[in-house]
Formats: sequence, C-alpha cells, structure tokens
Amino acid sequence: MCGIVGYIGSNDATEFLLSGLRRLEYRGYDSAGLAVPAPGGFRRVRAVGRIDELDRELQQTPLAGNVGIGHTRWATHGPATLENAHPHLGGDGAVAVVHNGVIENFQAIKDRLEGQGYVFRSATDTEVIAHLISDCLKRQPPVSDMAANHYEPLALAVQAALLQLQGTYGLVVLFRDWPEVLIAARLGSPLIVGVGSREHYVASDCSPLAGYTDRIVYLADNELAVLSADSLRVVHRDQGHVRHRIKVLDLAAGDVDRGGYAHFMLKEIFEQPESIRNATRGRLDLDAATAKFGGLNLTARQLRGAKRILLTGCGTSWHAALVGEYQIETLARLSVEVEYASELRYRNPPLDDDTLVFAITQSGETADTLAALREMKRKGHHALAVCNVVGSTIANEADGGIYLHAGPEIGVASTKAFTSQCTVLAMLALYFGRLRHLGFDDGMRIIGELQALPDKVAGALGTSARVQEIAARYADCQTFLYLGRQFNFPAALEGALKLKEISYIHAEGYPAAEMKHGPIALVDERTPSVFLMPRGPVYDKVMANVQEIKARGGPVIAVVCEGDRDAARLADEVIEIPATDEFLQPILSIIPLQLLAYHIAVARGCDVDKPRNLAKSVTVE
Ligand code: G6P
Repeated sequence: MCGIVGYIGSNDATEFLLSGLRRLEYRGYDSAGLAVPAPGGFRRVRAVGRIDELDRELQQTPLAGNVGIGHTRWATHGPATLENAHPHLGGDGAVAVVHNGVIENFQAIKDRLEGQGYVFRSATDTEVIAHLISDCLKRQPPVSDMAANHYEPLALAVQAALLQLQGTYGLVVLFRDWPEVLIAARLGSPLIVGVGSREHYVASDCSPLAGYTDRIVYLADNELAVLSADSLRVVHRDQGHVRHRIKVLDLAAGDVDRGGYAHFMLKEIFEQPESIRNATRGRLDLDAATAKFGGLNLTARQLRGAKRILLTGCGTSWHAALVGEYQIETLARLSVEVEYASELRYRNPPLDDDTLVFAITQSGETADTLAALREMKRKGHHALAVCNVVGSTIANEADGGIYLHAGPEIGVASTKAFTSQCTVLAMLALYFGRLRHLGFDDGMRIIGELQALPDKVAGALGTSARVQEIAARYADCQTFLYLGRQFNFPAALEGALKLKEISYIHAEGYPAAEMKHGPIALVDERTPSVFLMPRGPVYDKVMANVQEIKARGGPVIAVVCEGDRDAARLADEVIEIPATDEFLQPILSIIPLQLLAYHIAVARGCDVDKPRNLAKSVTVE
C-alpha cells in the first residue's frame, strides 16, 4: 500500500525513481508522481493510474536532476485524482513531501493552517504535513551556512512538525532552497536508506534498491535521516544523534523481476519447491527427530510449559494459521486458537499466562497484525512472529520468531508465502509434538515427509496444463464453491480467496459437509464446486457430498491423489496431485487452486499482478 522512493547523488534521479516505483507497483496503488527541485521551486509530474501513465507523462515533460522523490499512492483521504497524487507541496512551494501512513489529527491541523492563510489543493492528510513543515521552517532562526550546521535547522523544523502529528508516517522531504539534502523520517511505516558510492537512496521496502546497492540502513520508529550525496546522519526524537548500522541486503535484481514468466504470481507459484526447501533448510534435526529454530528466544522448558497457542494474522496468513491449528493440535495435542488480527486487537480475550502468541505475516507490516502483536506484548505474553520480510516492523518488534526465507513475494495474491507458512507451522507442530508425547519414529516419519515435500510440490505443479484447460471451460462462471474437510478446509478457503482476488469471481470456501446448510442453494449447472478430496479418513464422506452436488446438476472439479479412479467416475474434471501425510496435504492441494485462479484470471483478461482495489501490504487499519 503506497510506496516511496528518493534519490540524492550524481546520477539521474528520475531513472532510479521510475524503476523504483515500478518495483513497488506490487504493493497496490492508484496514482503516482515524482518531484525534483528546479530553479524557484519544484517540477512535478503526476499521473492517475499505472506507472506506464507516469512514464508517458515523463516522456512529454522530462524531469532532470540529481535529487528527487517519488510515490505510488493508494487512496485513503480523497479519491485517486491528480490533485491528490503525491508529492505534495507545502507553504509557497518551499517543501515537497511524499508520505505513507495515515495522519489521524490532520483535520484539526488543516483547520488551523487554513486559518493562518495556507491554501490546500488536495483532500489528503499528506498536504497537511507539507504545509506544517514549511510553517515550522519559517520559525527556525536563520543560519548563514546550512551545510556547516549539518542542516540541523531543517531537521529541527521537520521534527517540530512531526511532533504535532498523531498517526503513522514514512516520509521524505525535499527543500526548494537546499536541494543538496533530503530528509526521511518514520513512525510506524517502514523506510530504508540505501548507501551507494557518493549517493543515497530511500525506499519504503528493499525491492527498489536491488541492483543499485546492497548496503542498507533500516530506519527505526522516531528516527529521522538527513541525507546528502556523501553524508548520512540519523537523529532519534528522544536520543539525538544515533550511530546507524549498515546491513547487507541479500537481494539481487533478478529476485525482483519476472524472470521470463508472464506474471510475478506465476513465477512465485513455480518457485514453491525451492521456497519450501528454504523454509526447511537447516531446521530438521535428524538426530533428535524434531525441528529446530534459532530465533524463538525461549528455552525448551519454557516452550514445554505452553498450554495454549494463539495464532493470528490477516488474509492468506490467517488461512495458514488455520492450517497450523490442525497441525499443532494433531501432532502436539496442544490447544490452538486462531483469531483474525483485526478482531484480536479489540476483542480482549481472556488468555492464561501460559499462552504463546504467534503473529503470522508475509510482509511483517500489516497494520492489524502489528497492533495485535503489540497488544499481546503489552499484556505480557511472549509474542512471536512467523514472517517473510527480514527487518520488517513485526520481525523487529516480536520477542522472537521464524523467518520463511521464501524470497520477495511481489504478486499481490499470496502464493509461496502461504505454502512456506504452512511448512513452518508443520515444523513447529513437530517441534511441540516432540517436546510432548510424539515418539522418535513418528518424528522421523514426519521429517521424511517434509523432506519429500519440494519434489511433491513440483509434481503438483505438473498439473498446470491440465488446470489451464479446465480454466478455459469455466472462466465465464459467476460463482464457485470450494469444499474440503479438516486439513483441507483452510485450503478450500484459500483457493476461494485466490479466485476472488484476481479474477473478481464470487467464490466461497466451506467445510464440505457444511455446504448442505446454505451454499447448496447456489448450485446449478454453471456453478462449479471444487472439491479437495485426497485419500484419508474423511474421503468417503466427501464423496457423499460430491454425490449431493451432482444430484443437483452442479459441475464438480475434484482435486484427488494420483491414481484415484473412484472420484473420476463422478467428477466432471479431475486434477491428480501427489499424496502426502494429511497434515501436509493442504500444501499440495492449494497448488492446483492457485493455478486455477491464475489461469481463469488470465482467460478473463484480468491484471493478475495488480488486482483492482487490493494492496500487497495493508498498512492501514
Ligand atoms: C493483504 C494481501 C494478502 C495478505 C494480507 C496479509 O490483504 O493482499 O495477500 O494475505 O494482506 O498480509 P501479511 O503480509 O500480513 O501476510
């Protein structure tokens, strides 16, 4: 949701800014813009819609300069119009600002500034920040040599403005009269500084930096960075000047491009054998027949003392949590509760001291998940994260956790993060199981299944051509049902979500037997039911549900284990995937459903990587 880029150095700023904004497209946006300083003010180019539009505008009106800022906006305050697109100017054009986050008290400040004569040209909360900084700048005593003063008056003006704001921000400020400096600041919305050779970059996540620099500095909340081409000074609101630590970014330019695939989503679907292998790498302990994790920051005794586990997250991560609930309850016989983060943060459930909390998140930036994690920490619970993005806010604030190591996920519809989350949760279930009653032989059998998983995922990916044929037959249907039981129930929910997200077809996921209690009323000859029915304890029961759908003329697409001839007698379409232990089966079942959603969306001409209204990382409540 919203993206920020900034550049200061000796190269052409626009080249990096535009390429950075393209790399941030995946976050979701509806307008975009750039600004560079020019004699007497700023030159801005903004466009509603895609970056391609902005690019076209830039070809008409090229922006030259060695410093600049850029932004992709996902509308919150005011619709997606040119006037509301960032960068916004403050005062009489003294500053330009790009901003991610939400300013909650913007209206009160706006009223005050309007009373002072400031003229607002947009409906955004960001324009308030621009005017406020400009106002604070005017109140700074003049200094003859800014550079000799480390641009301190500029930093003080920005800080004074920020102190008046309630809400969240990641922002970058450019000054008309001091174009040799940029100021970046964050509170609750990520910002990363890239350190180059006599140049600095700023971005709201690492992807724009890949291929430009691998030396990065994560700004922390309440930190402000003053950047020139060859200096970087970080100031904390309360602690003053702080020493920054440069980390090495493990991201190549190839990681953030499509690598020959038509879409990021397809690339990421096909990366799953590797991403799952990375999730298990170094974490399977064959001597003790268990899993091991370096970052939980709890002793085995403390973990053994946990009586209950609370898993929380949003969207696809919530579905992974549901898979985790089945896995942990089955393998460890521990009671597990799953709660939407948005509900958990306000529900105030009674929780015993021995409850361990896990926030499940791909991005590590989801506002509701972060708020839920903070609330659980405030209550004194040990709050851990299962997270993909290294250095993200949730990864930093959690008491410990497990990284997915899935690599960047750019497609808005989450795919490889889901299967990696399910894999990590399966290993966690094994770990808790082995701390409790699960025997050595069971542990080894489970390890064997986990080791075999990447090849089986590759087997499931082999269904792509078959799924594409099926997609062509059903692409114009208006409603789909996704049905599965037990471990496959969350996979059914996730399959329905994938279809909704990228093809805009109405889809519902249900436990297969529940469909009799309402959804069956939807069934007709143009309403397909996708059944997840691998062999297992409830296979016959699901088969009875298939009969019920067929008796009402509904088409059935059955995802079954290889060699299953029984389902083929009833179902209209059969997709065969490899078999595995039932607690890992959702990881295989979801593969053809990801492919089905993908191929249907492509057949309907939908923009798979940039679905309408969605954002990859939802940083507002
Ligand atoms: C957004 C994304 C979903 C994602 C959800 C949670 O809605 O579009 O794909 O599942 O946020 O995101 P997280 O990064 O916390 O897993």
